[in-house]
Amino acid sequence: MASISDEIKRRRTFAIISHPDAGKTTLTEKLLLFGGAIHIAGAVKSNKIKKTATSDWMDIEKQRGISVATSVMGFNYGDYKINILDTPGHQDFAEDTYRTLTAVDSVIIVVDVAKGVEQQTRKLMEVCRMRNTPVIIFVNKLDREGRDPFEILDELESELKITVRPLSWPINIGAKFKGVYNIYEHSLDLFTPNKQKVSERVEIDDINDKAIDEAVGETDASKLRDDLELIEGVYPEFNVSEYLNGSLAPVFFGSALNTFGVKELLDCFVKIAPSPKPVNAEERQINPEEEPFTGFVFKIHANMDPNHRSCIAFVKVCSGKFERNANYKHIRTGKMMRFAAPTAFMAQKKSIVDEAFPGDIVGIPDTGNFKIGDTLTSGEELHFKGLPSFSPEMFKYIENTDPMKSKQLEKGIQQLMDEGVAQLFINQFNGRKLIGTVGQLQFEVIQYRLLHEYGAQCRWEPVSLHKACWIESDDNDALEAFKKRKHQFMAIDRDGRDVFLADSGYVLTMAQNDFPKIRFHFSSEF
Ligand code: G4P
Repeated sequence: MASISDEIKRRRTFAIISHPDAGKTTLTEKLLLFGGAIHIAGAVKSNKIKKTATSDWMDIEKQRGISVATSVMGFNYGDYKINILDTPGHQDFAEDTYRTLTAVDSVIIVVDVAKGVEQQTRKLMEVCRMRNTPVIIFVNKLDREGRDPFEILDELESELKITVRPLSWPINIGAKFKGVYNIYEHSLDLFTPNKQKVSERVEIDDINDKAIDEAVGETDASKLRDDLELIEGVYPEFNVSEYLNGSLAPVFFGSALNTFGVKELLDCFVKIAPSPKPVNAEERQINPEEEPFTGFVFKIHANMDPNHRSCIAFVKVCSGKFERNANYKHIRTGKMMRFAAPTAFMAQKKSIVDEAFPGDIVGIPDTGNFKIGDTLTSGEELHFKGLPSFSPEMFKYIENTDPMKSKQLEKGIQQLMDEGVAQLFINQFNGRKLIGTVGQLQFEVIQYRLLHEYGAQCRWEPVSLHKACWIESDDNDALEAFKKRKHQFMAIDRDGRDVFLADSGYVLTMAQNDFPKIRFHFSSEF
């Protein structure tokens, strides 16, 4: 039987992130095909809400249904156990993605070769950078016309603010796309547009092998040699430790739809991507190899059926072995808990598991005990850090429209916030409840769920705010003076912390200039 340490070493827990439409779902599916977790393409449903002008309720429900099924996809690939954590495609659920990134050990970023780095990718990369998460970049859709690969590399470097290093290189793109030279393995794969078949490999000794000329023609072979010479001259040597500390991103080229370049990506990924890393708790750093179990809740998924208000709490195992029916301490409440039906997600099937190891995700059925960020341990008082809330981008006051149901509304709001659907702030000036989100769709989700799950009705009152930022200072008098001066714009978050509501970028800059002793933070963890 494998030891815990062997189990840890063979685990790769990661997320694929991209701007919508770059090919995340397609790539995920192809990885699952290689892992034997699915047998036909098309089995993984896209969890994105199609971008219609108005999103309707069915879409939201569908999204919730699909995303629980695809929240975690575990499968074995060779000796490795791979856990892909799914992230919502729609950018209005970006906060959910940020949290998922706290539970992964590395990330694969998918970029569309025609579109380059898009807004959502830039934002998600910022979160990766904050945590020094190792990233591999997959430039997708080489079968379509797109931009020059060198230009894409420059853009990746400047927009994502990370040093890049190509590990594969395309021979032409679009209609003339012939294949990819794998710099990491020194091999050549020829492209045949076919959605199911894996590419054809040409055996070569090195880049000067005449077999390349025979396979792609002399002109393209000579261009490939020139390109590679340039790459060797311009880009640093690939260094795994720089990748692991998040300062260097290897880049692969391919076409997910054609299953091209995907196996090379996966083979390199399992070799270089990190196994579960130590995790920081407020008290100390926890090593995955420690025997006692520890884990934290990074996602809560509500049941679709409004008659059964149950949820699944997703727990990332950080250390030790998680066992079914063992007694674990829920640190926030101090309660001991036993889980009779924890589930894991293997090969697209959700089933009850008896044990799980660091890097694994277990789903725990819950009826409202858990909040995002909760820590579970074998007994030690630990609080995992690293589940920050980010300053929301849209704000609305929430108003009760059915005075008979104010209790239901209160409860609904509280539980939805515990689930991490949005953030609640209480304006200290007028006592009103302000909900902050990253997108319009979340307001619709909240209103819909309050009505259907809690029988409470609400109405939104738009408020024009630029940002909510957490403030602190080493100088208490300065802090009090600031709060007094800005009393109309002060709020507290769910944990009672001071938040400044800046109604414009200008006001915020002025406040930063006028109050140098105050620190303004754009995420709740500082
Ligand atoms: P996402 O999850 O990142 O949002 O992207 P998704 O995989 O759904 O891909 C977006 C669209 O791009 C899909 O087409 C998909 O088939 C296409 N696509 C993905 N990889 C490639 C590729 O390598 N080459 C080409 N040419 N297209 C690719 P769609 O028409 O929007 O959806 P569908 O109807 O095909 O599912």
